[in-house]
Amino acid sequence: MIDGRNKLNDLTGKEWLKLTKSFWLSEKCVDDKDAFKHPAPFLIKDIMKLISFFTKKGMTVLDPFCGSGTTLIAANNLNRIGIGIDLNSKYKQLARSRLNKEHFIENKNYYYKVGDANKVIGTLNNVDYVITSPPYHNILKNKGGGLRSESKKGFRTGSRIGVEYYSDSSNDLGNKKSYSDFLYSFQEIMSKCFNILKQGKYASIIISDFTVNKKEVCVQKDVVECMLVCGFSFVGTTVLLQDNKPLYPFGYPYAYKINHMHQNIINFRKPNK
Ligand SMILES: C[S@@+](CC[C@H](N)C(=O)[O-])C[C@H]1O[C@@H](n2cnc3c(N)ncnc32)[C@H](O)[C@@H]1O
Repeated sequence: MIDGRNKLNDLTGKEWLKLTKSFWLSEKCVDDKDAFKHPAPFLIKDIMKLISFFTKKGMTVLDPFCGSGTTLIAANNLNRIGIGIDLNSKYKQLARSRLNKEHFIENKNYYYKVGDANKVIGTLNNVDYVITSPPYHNILKNKGGGLRSESKKGFRTGSRIGVEYYSDSSNDLGNKKSYSDFLYSFQEIMSKCFNILKQGKYASIIISDFTVNKKEVCVQKDVVECMLVCGFSFVGTTVLLQDNKPLYPFGYPYAYKINHMHQNIINFRKPNK
C-alpha cells in the first residue's frame, strides 16, 4: 500500500526501502542491445529503478544528454513523460527507432529535441526529475593503444559494437579542450536544469571516475562541487555494479591501476525555499 503522505513516488514502503541501498547490480534486458550503436548507452532497467523512485505516474523526466533515448523508454515504460536533448541528430534517429518499436508516440509520450542542451533547456519548464550521464570528457577519443586496442574482441567492452566518439561539434562536452572546460560546460548546463526543476525535486548524474592525461581523477568529487555551485544539495551516491566488464592488467606487474567496474549514480535535491 502507498502511504498517503508519499508525494515522491508510487512505491510501497518495502519497494522504497530496497531502492535506498547504496549499491545496485546493473540489470540487462533484451531491448538494451538496440542501443549499442551508441557508444555509451544506459541500461533500461537501471533507469526505470531511478524514475520509479524519484517520480510518480504522469510526471516529467528530463535527460539533457539523451543519446539513444534510454531515459525516454524507461520513462514511457512507467507512464511518465520523457524529454530528451542531444546534439547529435543521428542519435535521435536511433532513439526514434527504439521508441517506435514500443509504440511510444513522439510529442505525445515523449519529446526529443536535437541541439545544445545549454540552449534548449531554456525553452522548457517545470520538470519533476533530471536523470543524465554527460560525455566522460574526451575519453572516447583516447584511443589508448596497448592491450585494449590489441584485444581480440577489439571492442571497448565485451558487448558494444565498437569505439566511436559522439560528434565533431565544439559544443559537445566530449570535445572540450581541457577537463576544467568540460566541468565548466557541464556546470552551465546543470545550472539551467536547476532553474527548470521544481522545488524539492531530484537530479541524478551517472558517471564513473576516469583518467585525465593518464592520471586517475576523482570525477565524483568534481561533479558534486559543480552541482553544489548550481544550488543543489547532495543526497547520496548509489554504486551501480557492472561486474561483467572485462578486466585489463593496465599496471601489471609494476603499479596499482584501478579497473572501473561500476558507475556512480550521484543524487541531488533542489531544496525547498
Ligand atoms: C554518455 S552519452 C549519453 C547516453 C545516453 N544515456 C543513452 O542511454 O544513450 C552523452 C551524450 O551527450 C551528448 N552531448 C554532448 N554534448 C552535448 C550538449 N552540449 N548538448 C546536448 N547533448 C550533448 C552526446 O552526443 C552523447 O550522446
